[in-house]
Amino acid sequence: MEASLKNFLYDNPELYEQIYDGSGHEIPRMCAALFGGTPATVLDIGCGTGRDLEFFAELGTRCSGVDYQPNMIAYARAQRPDIDFQVGDMRKVRLGTTFDVITCVGWALCNLHTPEDIDLAMATFAAHARPGTLLFLHLPNAIGNDDGHGMRHRFEIDTPSFRATAEATYRFDRRRQLLTREAVWSIPGEPDRSDFARFRMLFPMELEHYLTGHGFSVAGMYDNTAAADSELDGSVLYVAARFSGEARV
Ligand SMILES: C[S@@+](CC[C@H](N)C(=O)[O-])C[C@H]1O[C@@H](n2cnc3c(N)ncnc32)[C@H](O)[C@@H]1O
Repeated sequence: MEASLKNFLYDNPELYEQIYDGSGHEIPRMCAALFGGTPATVLDIGCGTGRDLEFFAELGTRCSGVDYQPNMIAYARAQRPDIDFQVGDMRKVRLGTTFDVITCVGWALCNLHTPEDIDLAMATFAAHARPGTLLFLHLPNAIGNDDGHGMRHRFEIDTPSFRATAEATYRFDRRRQLLTREAVWSIPGEPDRSDFARFRMLFPMELEHYLTGHGFSVAGMYDNTAAADSELDGSVLYVAARFSGEARV
């Protein structure tokens, strides 16, 4: 596993869901609105604990989730036993079928740092798409952020049995377009521990180039879950793209 994927929350998926509260289902709701209704099938790549798929499964959608980390998939299966979850790498996984909607959210794509790896992920998206498939991405916004400004700097877990806080600092390697986040966790009774995450920042036109090169055309880019047009200066980017199968280079 890549060192950048080892971190406190990934080691403790139940805590991950507390920090990244998806209970309002804002992101899958936005995706369904952009699709134009309830999809019959959804594939979530980099699905983590699978909580976004739960939203679709409750609508009657047949869902599949793939994640790189076996412990995330074990937790997802235990929590959501009716959903198909598989360990897999977005650079090479092939499920042998296509989907109405493919999602890659929670910045999962940005764990790939090189153009070669991003191309491989795009080929994976294309391999699971058919004409009309909606691809929905959620990632940090490279043009809204170049130094972590606007990103989350404090994390807190507070349950009757467990308390932890973290302070995060960000550093941007402009040459490699990599945003590094160091989070220092304070857990009562334990030494502090540092987590590092590295996110590849992708600019809108760069992303569009990868997408069109793999048969997707961009339907919209937004910095808000209302899918309202804006200057794209928010801290995150949501991208909707439709598969035509005609790759433009
Ligand atoms: C921040 S989590 C987001 C999880 C989930 N999509 C969500 O929004 O809650 C990013 C996920 O991407 C997964 N990931 C990173 N690299 C991956 C790869 N090459 N293939 C598949 N999953 C990957 C990680 O294991 C992690 O679960």
